[in-house]
Amino acid sequence: MKKVAIVTGASRGIGRAVAKRLARDSFAVVVNYLSNVDEAEGVVAEIKGIGGDAVAVKADVSSPADVERLFNETSTKFGSVDVVVHNSGIMPLSPIGKNNFDLFDKVISTNLRGAFLVLAQAAQHLASGGRIIAFSSSVLAKSFPTYGPYIASKAGVEGLVHVLANELRGRNVTVNAVAPGPVATELFLKGKSEEQIAELSKMPPLERLAQPEDIARVVSFLAGPDGAWVNSQVLRANGGFAY
Ligand SMILES: NC(=O)c1ccc[n+]([C@@H]2O[C@H](COP(=O)([O-])OP(=O)(O)OC[C@H]3O[C@@H](n4cnc5c(N)ncnc54)[C@H](OP(=O)(O)O)[C@@H]3O)[C@@H](O)[C@H]2O)c1
Repeated sequence: MKKVAIVTGASRGIGRAVAKRLARDSFAVVVNYLSNVDEAEGVVAEIKGIGGDAVAVKADVSSPADVERLFNETSTKFGSVDVVVHNSGIMPLSPIGKNNFDLFDKVISTNLRGAFLVLAQAAQHLASGGRIIAFSSSVLAKSFPTYGPYIASKAGVEGLVHVLANELRGRNVTVNAVAPGPVATELFLKGKSEEQIAELSKMPPLERLAQPEDIARVVSFLAGPDGAWVNSQVLRANGGFAY
């Protein structure tokens, strides 16, 4: 029987590339999304077009009831959950100031509470051999102005990954994070001038933006047989942008 992967935030960007890559790696894939149903169904159609199995499931990762339903629907549809890629996230930028508490709460709710809820369900559902992969960001090492809420949320995600790896001692389930540098997706490109994009693109010694597929390859490694001995790590896939 096929192994089963849940990918949160798989309607667009990195998650979309991860879902398609894991389907090519022979996983049945659950394509989670928040609101872009057409894009999510498009990913499902692409996967089915190459002979794969996939289903789109709408769920807000910051809602305990939604996340529980996401995992229950996966088990009902495919019989197990073997790999969980928690990729969904948002990055509105704002300085640390008194007029942006709502923005801070929103980022923490989606990125950090979302990770806590998804990791909690993953811990409950995964059997021996399972893999949990969360998303941090290499921008943690840069401390750029206006990235405060986002960096705080992703630092929290890295903390959760290390703690959960310890909590799952003896279960033969790995827990890791992938921390990309700049990737050409809406999350990165939106709101930036061409000059800002060009400057950030040149920062890695490899002197280009990552494409979502660059990151999907790293997730494929962690989710597949060759990644079995990697546990409690943050894999900074960033072309040398930061370490
Ligand atoms: N792009 C970069 O440069 C970069 C760098 C480092 C780390 N990352 C991390 O990589 C991950 C993916 O980023 P991306 O660039 O691919 O972002 P993106 O293109 O903006 O896509 C975000 C995805 O997350 C989903 N999403 C947003 N809020 C959600 C919620 N509350 N519940 C469920 N799904 C939700 C979106 O669903 P809808 O389509 O339905 O809205 C979409 O599928 C994020 O965790 C991000 O922080 C990105």
